[in-house]
Amino acid sequence: MSSSTVKDGRATTALSHPPGPRRRVPALNALRMGRDPLAFLTSLRDQYGDIARVPLGPETLYLFSHPDLVRDVLVTNHRNFHKGRGLERAKMLLGEGLLTSEGEFHLRQRRLAQPAFHRQRVAAYGATMAAYGAARCDRWQAGATIDAHKEMMVLTLGVVGKTLFNADVEHEAAEIGAALATTFESFNFGFFLPFGELLERLPLPATLRFRKARARLDATIYRLIEERRRSGGDRGDLLSMLLLAQDTEGDGGGMTDVQLRDEAMTIFLAGHETTANALTWTWYLLSQHADIEARVHAEIDSALGGRLPTADDLPALPYTRMVLAESMRLYPPAWIVGRRALGPFEANGYEIPTRSIVLMSQYVMHRDERWFPDPERFDPDRFTPERQAERPKFAYFPFGGGPRVCIGEQFAWMEGVILLATIAQRWRLRLVPGHPVALQPIITLRPKHGIRMTVLSRGQSR
Ligand code: HEM
Repeated sequence: MSSSTVKDGRATTALSHPPGPRRRVPALNALRMGRDPLAFLTSLRDQYGDIARVPLGPETLYLFSHPDLVRDVLVTNHRNFHKGRGLERAKMLLGEGLLTSEGEFHLRQRRLAQPAFHRQRVAAYGATMAAYGAARCDRWQAGATIDAHKEMMVLTLGVVGKTLFNADVEHEAAEIGAALATTFESFNFGFFLPFGELLERLPLPATLRFRKARARLDATIYRLIEERRRSGGDRGDLLSMLLLAQDTEGDGGGMTDVQLRDEAMTIFLAGHETTANALTWTWYLLSQHADIEARVHAEIDSALGGRLPTADDLPALPYTRMVLAESMRLYPPAWIVGRRALGPFEANGYEIPTRSIVLMSQYVMHRDERWFPDPERFDPDRFTPERQAERPKFAYFPFGGGPRVCIGEQFAWMEGVILLATIAQRWRLRLVPGHPVALQPIITLRPKHGIRMTVLSRGQSR
C-alpha cells in the first residue's frame, strides 16, 4: 500500500503497515490488554520496536515508543489529534472540564484556568501543603502499621480540597472526602471493559453508588460556588481564581456555574490520586534503598533544621526532587496517554490512518535502556541537570506535553517535595515483611494491595 499523507504540512509518501501482532483470535489483544496492560505494552515494544500496530476489537491501536514520536504527537502535530477514547465515560463525572474537553472550548477553559496555576499562586499553597503533611503524620505512632497509599490519598485530597475551596469546606471535609472516594472508586469500575460505558447506564449497585455520590458532591460544589459568587473577592484559593477569571484574549466572559463545577471536579480528580501515588511509590522505594534515604535525610536536615518547609526552600532540596523524579520514572502515576488521529499522518515512513488510536506509555518509555541504562535500578542521580540534558526531552514525560501538558505540574512538584520533606523529617517507613507489592494500572498506577508500612521515628534503628 502506498498513499499520500501530511506531516508538518508537507505531503509525503508512506508505505505499508508497521509491524504488530496479527488478529488470529480477534479478542486476544483486548484480553491481554485488559488483563495486564503493562506487560502487554512492554512486550509490544520489545517485539516490534518504536511503532507497533495492534488491532483491538473494532479499533486499531498504534503504540509509539520513541521520544521523537511522542513529541510529534503531543507537540508538533497536536492539531491532528483529539483525546478520543474513554472521554465519554470520563465526562459522566467530569463534564466538560479541562481534562475531557476538546478544541476551542478546551483552549478557552485553559486560558481561564491558567492564572490559578501560575507559579507564584502555587507557591502560596506551600504552607498549606506542609501544614497538612505535618498534621497527618502527627497522628502516626512509632511502631504502628499504616497503609501508606491510604494515608497519602487522604493527605493529598485534603491539600487539594483546601487549596481549591479554602477554609470553607474544612468542617465538611469528611463528607466531601467520602463522596469523592465513592465517586472515584465506582468510576474505576469496568474502566478497561469494551462495554464499560454501557455498564454505567445499567442500574447495577456500583452504578447507583456512583450516581448517588456524584449527586452529593455536586450539591456541595454548587453551594460553595453560589456562596462564593455572593460574597465575591479573592480568597486566595483556586476557586476564587477560576471565578474571577475573564477571557480577555477571547470573548471577555468568565465561567458559568456548570463550567466551574466541571473544573472543580476535574482538579479534585486529576490533582489528588496522581500525587498520592507518586508519594506512595517514593516511600516504598526509599524503604528499599537505605543509602538514598540517608542522603534525603541529610539534605532535609541541613536545609530546614527541623522547621516546616515552604516554597522558598525548594531550591535547597534538589536531591529530594531528584528522588521524586526517579520514582515517577519507575512508577509513573499517569502510565499511558492516548490520542485519536483526526487525519492520516506519517510516522517513521509508515502511514497511520485517520481514526487510529495512538498510545504512548510512560511506563514503557521510562524503562527504555536507550535513555535509562539498567532501567530497573532506582538511581535518582539520573536526574542531575547534566544527565537530564543528555536525553531527548520526551524520554521522560510523567506530565505529558504540548498544549495539553498537565496544568498542575508545578503544583505537583511542589506538593511532592514539600510533603516528602515534611514527613521524612520525622519518620522513616519500612515495608511490612511479606506485604505483596503489585502494580494496578487503572486510571493511575496504584499499588494493588496498598503499601503496608511500619512507622519508625528517625532516631529509631531499623
Ligand atoms: C504527580 C502528579 C501528577 C501527574 C503525574 C499528572 C499527570 C498528568 C498528565 C500526563 C496529563 C496529560 C494527559 C494527556 O495528555 O492526555 C495531565 C493533565 C492534567 N492534570 Fe495532571 N498530573 C499530576 C498532578 C496534577 C495536579 C496536582 C493537578 C491539579 C491540581 C492536575 C491537573 C490536571 C489537569 C486539569 C489536566 C488536564 C490539562 C488539559 O488537558 O488542559 N494534575 N496530568
